[in-house]
Formats: sequence, C-alpha cells, structure tokens
Amino acid sequence: MTVTLTAKRTLAASAGGRLNLDNINPHVKAAKYAVRGELAVKAEEYRVKLAQGDKSLPFDSVIFANIGNPQQLDQKPISFFRQVLSLLENPSLLENPEALRTSFGYQQDVIDRAKALLADVQSVGAYSHSQGAPIIRNSVAKFIEERDGFPANPQDLYLTGGASSGVSTLLNIICDGPSAGVLVPIPQYPLYTATLSLLNAQCVPYHLEEHRAWGTDVNAIRENLAQAKAAGTDVRAIVVINPGNPTGASLSAEDIKGVLDLAAEEKLVVIADEVYQTNVFTGEFISFKKRLRQLQQEVPGKYDNVELASLHSVSKGMVGECGHRGGYFELVGFDPEVAAQVYKYVSIMLCPPVIGQCLVELMVNPPKEGEPSRAVYEKEYNGIRDGLRKRAFALYEAFQRMEGVECQEPQGAMYLFPTITLPPKAVEAAKAENRAADEFYCLRLLDATGVCVVPGSGFGQKENTLHFRTTFLAPGTDWVERIVKFHSEFMAKYK
Ligand SMILES: Cc1ncc(COP(=O)(O)O)c(C=O)c1O
Repeated sequence: MTVTLTAKRTLAASAGGRLNLDNINPHVKAAKYAVRGELAVKAEEYRVKLAQGDKSLPFDSVIFANIGNPQQLDQKPISFFRQVLSLLENPSLLENPEALRTSFGYQQDVIDRAKALLADVQSVGAYSHSQGAPIIRNSVAKFIEERDGFPANPQDLYLTGGASSGVSTLLNIICDGPSAGVLVPIPQYPLYTATLSLLNAQCVPYHLEEHRAWGTDVNAIRENLAQAKAAGTDVRAIVVINPGNPTGASLSAEDIKGVLDLAAEEKLVVIADEVYQTNVFTGEFISFKKRLRQLQQEVPGKYDNVELASLHSVSKGMVGECGHRGGYFELVGFDPEVAAQVYKYVSIMLCPPVIGQCLVELMVNPPKEGEPSRAVYEKEYNGIRDGLRKRAFALYEAFQRMEGVECQEPQGAMYLFPTITLPPKAVEAAKAENRAADEFYCLRLLDATGVCVVPGSGFGQKENTLHFRTTFLAPGTDWVERIVKFHSEFMAKYK
C-alpha cells in the first residue's frame, strides 16, 4: 500500500504535481459532444460582443439553432406549471390564497396542486426517495397507462435529473467493461457516444435510412451486430431515439416491431429515448412500451424476456423546461436483482432535483377538462405546438429553395437535418483548413449570419454525405432568410 502511494506521488511529481491533460481520465478527453462544441463557443463569443455594443459583426443577433433549448429561444413557460412551482418554492404564499387569486390570477387548482405535492414532498428543499417522490411516480404511472392502454407500476419508475442522467445510469449499469457494446443510431444525439466513451465501452453504430424518412432498417442493424460480435464485442443493448434527434423522424409501428423482434432474438436491452414524444407532426407517437405489450399479447411467449428502458423528460415538447432538469425512466422486464442495483446506483446520488420531479408531475398530470386552469393551459400548449409546426415547415420550405440542399419532410422532434452537397472547391477549402466540409460550412454560416447550427459530423453520418442540424425553435423567419442568402453566396463563391 505504502509503495503504491509513494509510486503514485512520484509519478504526480514528475508530471509537475498538478493535473494535466496527460494524467486525467483519458476517457473524458476522448468523449465528443459537438452540440456544445467549437461552434457553440464561438456563437457565445459573438453574443457577448453584440451585447457589449460591438458593431463590427455583419449581423445584429446570434441565433442559437444548435441546441433544443426552447426557453432560451423565447418559448414561454406554461403558466400553470410555473404558478404551482412558485408556491412550492415559497409555501408561505399559500397563507394568502385571496391575494393569489385576485392579484395574481392563480386558480384554485393551482393552490390545490401545490398543497397536494407539498403534502408528499414536504419541502422541495428536502431530499426525496431516491427513485422519486411516491405521489409523483403514481402520477407518471397513471399517465403511461392512459397513454398506452397498459398498466405501469410506480415501483418500475425512476425519476431523473433530465433524461441525460437516466441514460447515464442505464449505460453505467449495462456496460461491464471495454468489450461491452451498445447499438447506437447514426446519426445520433451525441449523449450516447459520449457516455459510452466515458465508460470506455463500445459504440456499435447502425445507420438510419435517410431515403425512408430516417427509419430503421433492421437487416442493416443485424449486419452491424454480427460484425461487432465477430470482432469480440459483447453487444448488450440497442438505443432508439423516437422521435429522432437529429433526424426528426417518427417511427412506424412496423419499425418499432422490427427493433423489438431483434431485441427478443438477440437478448438486447432496448433503450427507448422518447423525450420528443409530444413533438410529433405526422401520424401518432407510438411508445415502445405500448408496442411491446401489444406484441406480448399477440404472440405469447416470444417477447416475454425483452428488457425495455424508456425515457421521458420535461425538457422538450411544449413544456420546454430543460433548465429544471426533470425526467424519468421506466424499466420493463428487468431482473429484480438488476433493478435493485439500479436503485442502489441512483441512491448514491441521493435523489433527482425535487423541483424537477414536481415539474414531471405537472407535465404528466396537467389541468383536466373542466378544471379552472384548463382553458389557459390548452391555449398556451396549442399555441406552442402550432408555432413549432409552422416554423418547421417554413424552414423546410426554405431548404427546398436552396441549391444542393435536400431535406426530409418534418415529422417530429425539434430539428431538421438536411443533406448538403457542396462544390468540390468548398471541400478543398475546408481541407486546407483541416476541417470537415460540413464543419467548414457551418463556421462560415455562423461568421456571416450569426446563425449557429451543428455540422452533421457531430452526430455521425454515412460516408461521403454532409449534413447540418438546425432546431426550428427560434422565433421569426428573418434568420431563415439569413441562411438562404448565405447559402446562395457560399455556393456562388466556390462554384
Ligand atoms: C434525444 C435526446 N435525449 C435526451 C436529451 C437530454 O434531455 P434532458 O434535458 O432531459 O437531459 C436530449 C436533449 O437534447 C435529446 O435530444
């Protein structure tokens, strides 16, 4: 023991006695997260310059279209949610319900809900049960049951500090070492590849089918799986993001069945990231849990051993409360001994933020028909939903006007992920700067217009294809026109 410590100290001393890039966890260095990478940093610098009155830039505002952060881009919080939260944070306000009603327009259901939540959590400043407050898990179970038509058990629910912490928990439990692998869609939201990097586990990529509206091709997945297994990877799970990020795709019942078939045959845990479940424009959202339960009824036996973890969040949809960090995951079909380890794992972090948990409760249990806050809630909710849809299609139409840009029709989520075909001279110019061509394009776009998008390489894309991802959250259409104008000038310059 003494020898090891001495050796360690000597090593640290030889490295200058301080942490440096060569002695920190190499897996942290290896992890990549483009959504908040170089472009985002530069965009923030531009924002600060503009705020300081700098007039040297060729634009007067920065548009953060790089990240699904609705309230940064002017989406207003739903009043019912914030009214209840205000009472949870400051319960002394409940002592004067008359003032709440007359001066602030709080309805009785706001007051009742705050009291009910406080009766369970006592104070949002207190730790809760590590899986989340019981009353909140009951509401989530009811929500899932109403959504899917199949029951959910509050004991299988784990509230989280956003879906990200749920994903981290799940991957930490699933990956047991460097040979463990997880199938991840490409393009993907880089949380998955980054977390696998941190865990020193293997990402086994599978490509989504752009020409089929970014659907899944199970035969292609089987091939990737076989290759990974042949290379010695112990593939344990498959991630599906539905509706998709960055693709915006919404999966069909058939595509979901294909994944569940594969999971049943190959004994893969399914991680269904369903944070965009209310951001659906085309068709209806079908949860993996619902499809699994249907299949279990239709073909008794075949799907009994499927393990499914599905995630949801307050960050997206019409809620857009990503700064509050709330979410949950549901485990279906897991061995109780494994679930006990999941419980132990989350208990090491004590509990997810209690105010975030309360927002989950409000999201899954909004004011019902006939309740006093319903009308305003509905108006706000529908206004946000219609605005998102309108902006998605305005952007899609703009992309159709742009030479060399092809985009799938918006289906869901908060993003469009067009293909861009750039002239060879632009590709050469990118090479000269030692950059990927899509990164070069996005940097020039930012420099010229202040619009920050993310290059496709940040999410993964098929070889010899280029994309970028943009959210359609920013209000107005001025910024869309900025992209159109930049694009035509860029194409002309490198013709
Ligand atoms: C597919 C997907 N999953 C998870 C997250 C993270 O969500 P949360 O804010 O709940 O951690 C995001 C955020 O953009 C996402 O796009």
